[in-house]
Amino acid sequence: MLSTINFYPLIRPLLFRMDAETAHHKTLTMLNNLSKIEVLKKCLSADMPQTPKKVMGLTFLNPVGLAAGLDKNGEFIDALGTLGFGFIEVGTVTPKPQDGNPKPRLFRIPERECLINRMGFNNQGLDSFLANVQTHQYREYGGILGLNIGKNAATPIEHAVDDYLIGLRCVYAHADYITINISSPNTENLRSLQAEDELDRLLKALVDEREVLAQAQSKQVPILLKIAPDISQEQCIAICNIVRHHRLDGVIATNTTLSREAVQGLPHADEKGGLSGPPVHAMSLEVIKTLRSHLGPDVAIIGVGGISHGRQAVEKLQAGADLVQLYTGLIYQGPQLVKNCVHAIKAAGL
Ligand code: FNR
Repeated sequence: MLSTINFYPLIRPLLFRMDAETAHHKTLTMLNNLSKIEVLKKCLSADMPQTPKKVMGLTFLNPVGLAAGLDKNGEFIDALGTLGFGFIEVGTVTPKPQDGNPKPRLFRIPERECLINRMGFNNQGLDSFLANVQTHQYREYGGILGLNIGKNAATPIEHAVDDYLIGLRCVYAHADYITINISSPNTENLRSLQAEDELDRLLKALVDEREVLAQAQSKQVPILLKIAPDISQEQCIAICNIVRHHRLDGVIATNTTLSREAVQGLPHADEKGGLSGPPVHAMSLEVIKTLRSHLGPDVAIIGVGGISHGRQAVEKLQAGADLVQLYTGLIYQGPQLVKNCVHAIKAAGL
């Protein structure tokens, strides 16, 4: 009975009275405490239909995951696991700790259920991240863990490859899959790594290193590339060719957008950073369709951006994604959204 009650609409007004970043930390701390209470843990994860799916050689308990950026340091993996996600992606982690941009750097646009963030990869760095990702139990219960790596702001873009190689080597042993994030708009020039020559060089270095790691550790960890929605179709096709050339395992589409078309004139619409939430859905759908038609059936696609209802999760899969991820929808709809998506996907027979 308790499991059918959705408490989030009661809590949300209180959270929305706080500044967005404070509310974020308070919610994660609260979830962490609640998830330790056995009976509440059961309530949080009850009614989740079994919809296992094999992608990239991994078995996902369901195709709905948590997108990167919500748990940047991998501190809340078990707590987030109680929400019923089939997979959780943590990070982006950079080699060295960094503060990110000055606060305030996270803004709500409730009129459109959007967020704008310019966090700038605030994180505690790889040492702390690795300590955290080795202490959870989520994987023992069948959860799939993705580790998302990036570069430090202080590393010149010409040396970005070095930071990604450091990240890859450090996280390899602890990941079910690894995401190369080159699409945050909040690290200067990061998105320039999506250009053909730069991407080719980066992926070659990473795939070569993966061969070495795979030999040494006797396991092949899938590598995915996370891309922006603000790319032309030509750019997207060029990315597909490079991904196929280097036999990458998958693409995550998409990160936040620089576009403000959908929120024009609303408070905070002119804040610098990446916009997330419903307006990203159509943009990411276009990218997913192009990806699927140029990657063929064998490269995995994780669809993310603007899922605020099960219907959009279904649309992402129908457009060619194998799995989906959520972030902003959780802030506005609460944890019920995870179940809503899993149920909708099952009902659609996908
Ligand atoms: C993000 N996102 C993100 N992505 C990533 O690869 N690394 C990161 O560190 C972050 N950080 C981050 C912080 C905040 C506050 C937000 C809102 C988003 C992007 C996120 O994973 C996702 O791709 C986009 O937000 C689009 O999905 P939603 O939010 O519309 O479901």
